[in-house]
Amino acid sequence: MRRTSIIAIDGPAASGKSSTAQMVAEKLDYLHVDSGSLYRAATAAILRAQPNPDEWTERSVLDAARGVELRAARTSFYPVLDNRAIEEEIRGADVTRNVSRVAQMPRVREWVNAKVRDAAASSNVVVDGRDMGTVVFPEADLKIFLVADSRERAARRLRQRGTPTSEKLLDDETLRIIERDARDARQTVPAADAAIIDTTSLTQREQVERIVNLWIEQSG
Ligand code: DC
Repeated sequence: MRRTSIIAIDGPAASGKSSTAQMVAEKLDYLHVDSGSLYRAATAAILRAQPNPDEWTERSVLDAARGVELRAARTSFYPVLDNRAIEEEIRGADVTRNVSRVAQMPRVREWVNAKVRDAAASSNVVVDGRDMGTVVFPEADLKIFLVADSRERAARRLRQRGTPTSEKLLDDETLRIIERDARDARQTVPAADAAIIDTTSLTQREQVERIVNLWIEQSG
């Protein structure tokens, strides 16, 4: 029988899942698992082995991903490739452009799900992704689905990058987010028992408080 607690936070690109999940984990003294980071790590691995995405097959991606491991740090799990941290590489434009293709591969999805389940077997976790509350942990103790207006998500992305912005950049980023939503739509569906939180006009702190309060209400 499972003895650890699982909070699953899902939602579309740039809905603030990962930073929110990280902060909720820190408040509760749980570990954060970002399932997207594993899709990204597999993409970084195959990009090193084969720079032309048209040549990628499920088999070659899984082979390349053999060097990927999920390690536990103080507040989160993080992926390493061939024993080295790859945080910067997995957030780069090349990986971001190609990761949806890798995330469409059913056996890669099984590979990610097994790694995330392993992490949750040994620690209390806050997991974030697209299908944590539906496919990976249908039995999660709390399920959250974050949504936010696409333009607001684009504005957050640009603020995160910290580069000067303009209406044109905001339009372009909004379009990119809408395109990513369409590519990831199949796996980005709220669980029937998820609490849906619209974060468009919430601060990061308010989002975190809402989730922690839901958790306290439910477990008290
Ligand atoms: O959340 P993110 O941008 O880091 O996700 C990277 C990619 O992985 C994105 O294309 C969606 C996909 N993904 C997924 O299909 N299922 C998950 N549980 C997490 C991410």
